[in-house]
Amino acid sequence: MIRKPLIAGNWKMHMTVADARHLVSEMVPGLQSKSGVDKVVCPPHTALLAVSSLLEGTDIALGAQNMYWETAGAFTGEISPNMVAEFCEYVILGHSERRTFFGETDKDVNRKVQAAFAYGLTPIFCIGETLEEYEADRTYEVVFRQVKMGLEAIQFDNSGDGDGSNLVVAYEPIWAIGTGRAATPTDANQVIAEVIRPALGELFGEGMAQRIRVLYGGSVNGENAQGFFSQSEIDGALVGGASLKVADFIQITLAAVR
Ligand code: PGA
Repeated sequence: MIRKPLIAGNWKMHMTVADARHLVSEMVPGLQSKSGVDKVVCPPHTALLAVSSLLEGTDIALGAQNMYWETAGAFTGEISPNMVAEFCEYVILGHSERRTFFGETDKDVNRKVQAAFAYGLTPIFCIGETLEEYEADRTYEVVFRQVKMGLEAIQFDNSGDGDGSNLVVAYEPIWAIGTGRAATPTDANQVIAEVIRPALGELFGEGMAQRIRVLYGGSVNGENAQGFFSQSEIDGALVGGASLKVADFIQITLAAVR
């Protein structure tokens, strides 16, 4: 297997600075130095500074949950890519909650991915169909469009890490997020194999498509994680609820080691 697994914890709008410090200090001993898997935690913006100092000297990376695409200016309430890059290696972009509750479009997400690349951040680029689309058998069409539009005109940096490791895709069926109703591992694997990697191939070429990591997200927990990671196309997970539970998050991470 050429792709190193990655487990990312999306804390969403949870954790004050004090809570975040507590959670990270409980998590670090069980997570750090577990080789064969990359680990990322994504606290809310207000806790990035505190968490980054706690992660110093560990092999656990830090990610943000969102950012704007402009570098500076009159954009009240927004955070720029260079601000995120002061603390983080990763940034979650286009999460379905951003798309659904805050009106982000494929075009917006595309601008954010471009901005992340410009500042050396690795986007965790999220895609996935709604329940309605799933039931209407439109999954392939929706996911294909999200990949093609969200990653349009993205250029890998051939001079540096143009090896595909600076882009992560997370396939998260919206009906599986926070519902306890995960997709089946084989169904998720099939969407990645039949739609996501071919779309990446059309954009970046076959070789690159094989190097980009594609995660599954949606109700992943300590119990079901192994089933996903035994699938050939699933390179890890974007974990929401279970990333706030120390034992679960560690169990998921260990399950990803191949
Ligand atoms: P969940 O969330 O694990 O709580 O379903 C996943 C996500 O939203 O990234």
